[in-house]
Amino acid sequence: MYTAEMLESMKKVEANRAENAVLEPRRMTAQEKTDLLAAYHPDYKTGEFTELTIGANKGEKVPHELAALLQGKSRIDPANISLDDPDYDVDVLVIGGGGAGSSAAIEAHEAGANVMIVTKLRIGDANTMMAEGGIQAADKENDSPAIHYVDAFGGGHFAAKPSLLKRLVCEAPEAIKWLSDLGVEFDKTEDGTMVTTHGGGTSRKRMHAAKDYSGAEIMRTLRDEVLNRQIPVVDFTAAIELILDENGHVAGAVLLNMETDEILIARAKTVIIATGGAGRLHYQGFPTSNHYGATADGLVLAYRAGAKLMYPDTLQYHPTGAAFPEQIFGALVTEKVRSLGAKLINVNGEAFMHPLETRDVSAASIIRECSDRGNGVKTADGIGVWLDTPMIELKNGEGTIEARIPAMMRMFGKYGIDIRKEPILIYPTLHYQNGGIDIEPDGQSAVPGLLVAGEAVGGIHGRNRLMGNSLLDIIVFGRSAGKNAAALSKDVKLGAMTLEHVNKFNNERAAAGIDDDTVSPKLLPSYARKQN
Ligand code: FUM
Repeated sequence: MYTAEMLESMKKVEANRAENAVLEPRRMTAQEKTDLLAAYHPDYKTGEFTELTIGANKGEKVPHELAALLQGKSRIDPANISLDDPDYDVDVLVIGGGGAGSSAAIEAHEAGANVMIVTKLRIGDANTMMAEGGIQAADKENDSPAIHYVDAFGGGHFAAKPSLLKRLVCEAPEAIKWLSDLGVEFDKTEDGTMVTTHGGGTSRKRMHAAKDYSGAEIMRTLRDEVLNRQIPVVDFTAAIELILDENGHVAGAVLLNMETDEILIARAKTVIIATGGAGRLHYQGFPTSNHYGATADGLVLAYRAGAKLMYPDTLQYHPTGAAFPEQIFGALVTEKVRSLGAKLINVNGEAFMHPLETRDVSAASIIRECSDRGNGVKTADGIGVWLDTPMIELKNGEGTIEARIPAMMRMFGKYGIDIRKEPILIYPTLHYQNGGIDIEPDGQSAVPGLLVAGEAVGGIHGRNRLMGNSLLDIIVFGRSAGKNAAALSKDVKLGAMTLEHVNKFNNERAAAGIDDDTVSPKLLPSYARKQN
């Protein structure tokens, strides 16, 4: 139910709509952005981070919840695990059944490798499926990978690992072609030209989309391809520890059947971690746009085996999570809504910022509006600002919303909100893990034979990612990890398998005096009601 304050504020939004629609709020200066982020962005709240005392990132700060998992207790006692008679023996083991894992598996299979996917839920239960707005690629005449690079490098605060970002932007046009050839139905004009739009921080229109369910369309296609190729998918089975060989090369994983609790052993010449993000850790109490399994498992597995993380202290809070009604609290409201012309409006009906600032700046600006400036709109149990969706049709004509963002229309329509006529209330939601496992451009981590792709990678985007560069990275780095793992596995001669690194990690925990009982990887979020 709308509160009286919400209804009062909505009248002001409606009264100012025509004027706000043509207003061009100015972009913030670099200094204004720096000050804003320092004061309001969650990444800058020093009290929310713990310094790691063990592992390759010892001395660095990460969110409390992630620190507990990275330094957590293993789910297994190596003394009780027999590695003698593996249940699976493959060239390439892919951990994770989202877009990155599926792309990797397809390319490894194409290269002739014996590849298998294990996933703790089902293939496609992943953030890829939930991605909405689109995928960037500089494939229009007024654009180039170099311009794409400059946009992404600046948007990420000049912190991206140049070799990774270069690969991302240079292989983007080919990624779109690959997806299109596989059957992804991108939006096109009648003559077959791809429709492209802006995202926050892009200087060219390079966002390719399938309406506002781009990720679902991509995942549908990748899943079909995996299944058509009859690549084995072991679902409801989580990787709970990596296995190394006596020389420190990755040699497989210990698996847990989530339905029977049975422990299984997979031997593999190469392993690709494609386990996705961490939204379900709800850092700083934020809601999330992420799927149910996003609990940073890959980071934990790799860290315990000796890999290094890059920028694990930086997260992305998507500026526009649904703040009302409560049934969809935190759900993603795609940036495409702002690309199409909707503006952010405060309780007084004022357009308080440019709608397409980069994500960290937009999120911090909304948080400021709702906190110190006192210009947020209060709901029965929360707060937000308006995203004035009817502006879209004012600007682009009737029918635009249904044609371009039908999923948004449906999501709010279920609760009696017609986004063509009423604005919607939004607030930042935990969306993406900017940091992750440090890799080289070929996907290789610090552990020989262990490759990583997708959201589990850190450094591709620096300290803030632009819209549409994540769907892109899962394809670019997923594909290349699959090809490289297949090639590597041809030369790998595994030595004796061992879990000695788990014992070593336990010893480090003891020596550092860590007596926290947190067990990791977490695998699933904990939403049980507290007992009274
Ligand atoms: O707003 C969105 O549609 C999200 C896109 C992304 O995270 O790349």
